[in-house]
Amino acid sequence: MTASLATVSYIGATILFILSLGGLSSPASSRRGNLYGMIGMTIAVLATVFGPRVTMAGLPWIIAAMVVGAGIGVFAARKVQMTQMPELVALMHSLVGLAAMLVGFANYIDPAAAAGLSHAEKAIHEIEIYVGILIGAITFSGSIIAFGKLSGKIGGNPLLLPARHWINLIGLLVVVYFGREFLHTETVADGMTPLFVMTAIALLFGIHMVMAIGGADMPVVVSMLNSYSGWAAAATGFMLSNDLLIVTGALVGSSGAILSYIMCKAMNRSFISVIAGGFGTTSGTVAPTGSQPAGEVVPISAVETAELLRDAKNIIIIPGYGMAVAQAQHTVNEITQYLRNKGINVRFGIHPVAGRMPGHMNVLLAEAKVPYDIVFEMDELNDDFPKTDVAMVIGANDIVNPGAQDDPNSPIAGMPVLEAWKAKTSIVMKRSMASGYAGVDNPLFYKENNRMLFGDAKKMLDEVLVVLKAD
Ligand code: TAP
Repeated sequence: MTASLATVSYIGATILFILSLGGLSSPASSRRGNLYGMIGMTIAVLATVFGPRVTMAGLPWIIAAMVVGAGIGVFAARKVQMTQMPELVALMHSLVGLAAMLVGFANYIDPAAAAGLSHAEKAIHEIEIYVGILIGAITFSGSIIAFGKLSGKIGGNPLLLPARHWINLIGLLVVVYFGREFLHTETVADGMTPLFVMTAIALLFGIHMVMAIGGADMPVVVSMLNSYSGWAAAATGFMLSNDLLIVTGALVGSSGAILSYIMCKAMNRSFISVIAGGFGTTSGTVAPTGSQPAGEVVPISAVETAELLRDAKNIIIIPGYGMAVAQAQHTVNEITQYLRNKGINVRFGIHPVAGRMPGHMNVLLAEAKVPYDIVFEMDELNDDFPKTDVAMVIGANDIVNPGAQDDPNSPIAGMPVLEAWKAKTSIVMKRSMASGYAGVDNPLFYKENNRMLFGDAKKMLDEVLVVLKAD
């Protein structure tokens, strides 16, 4: 492939990536967006592999690596459950970081990479390497810890070392100092010491940064590492003088940064505070809060649930992580269709951090073919709960916790929530009284107008559907 054809292909791929991001901004166009992304990536890979910079001798190595990588990818895609996707994404981010680190070292060692560069060009080249390895190492170790936390292999407790901000600051100063040393070294062998020291500090920083973040703030970390992986890819692009990688990395980096901002807004957190660590609590246990909810819990049966649904005019369904665990989305869709056919107004309220990854609920509902036009974001329908007969909470917990509004001591205080308790009746579907991801008890369960339908969401909804259809 000639150099000009490769350049044209890169421009084409860049345009497709931008169109892809545009498409992903709405559920209705997301399939098209995905398709653009897939075509763009195919063009990018072909233009790179068969482009002018790859010699014939290198081709078998690249193809062998692609076969191994694709094999692992296909295996993972088939084996990984939908509920394990966030962990998988975190693991993928770590690979981008690792790649940036390895490319940085390889680029530094490769005598051809710096051959013929002027003094200023060499300095720029070395800064690219230093910064690339730095971002790559932080992304790598941070993502591994995020993987551990999301998969429950590492506890959700924030690790708050004494003077942690000072530790981070000293680490930063040491990295800057060794950066200066690195730029002043004459030989590759001399440059390796500052490079290794910086890499070790960056790896420790990545671990420390994510360990200091509590369970409740993990959504921000996931999107933040997504952004870092983009910048790591962009840094790799600079090192390899590959324009497409720079643009793609910048697209991922900036869209990840925007997503982090949206997540922070959704959780009413300051981005800087989350990065500095220290928010959040344990996951999966009841954390001490200022005031423990009081009152009685009223259980309800599938038959009674079906009756309440049938008698309602307006229903809002609030899906959460439990719907993903139970894989209840198809039954949810069937119930929705049934009720809509009876003239009942059924809508879905989606919290920005429902589930375990951005857009988790939207993906599941789209998979079950729930019409897009009845799926609303939290802000679009939160004011409608007082006019709603039944708010049906399916495997959600933290995102409907009134304590976020009225308990200033709650770990999720200030996080906007879906106000399900304002509906005439709310029904919460879950297996037990256990807390959700943030580990806080939920006063909603004890409200007078709340009913609890205990059991696996799929099983219970199947029973509800049978009763509804029996009419
Ligand atoms: P959670 O607060 O985690 O609550 C989910 C509930 O589902 C649990 O209380 C659980 O109760 C129930 N459940 C689990 N399996 C079930 C099943 N088979 N059938 C019925 N219920 C089941 O989820 P949420 O309300 O979606 O809130 C999301 C939380 O995750 C937030 O705290 C958020 O910060 C955090 N988080 C979000 C993300 C992103 S990006 N979305 C990433 C990381 C963390 P039982 O055990 O009693 O059944």
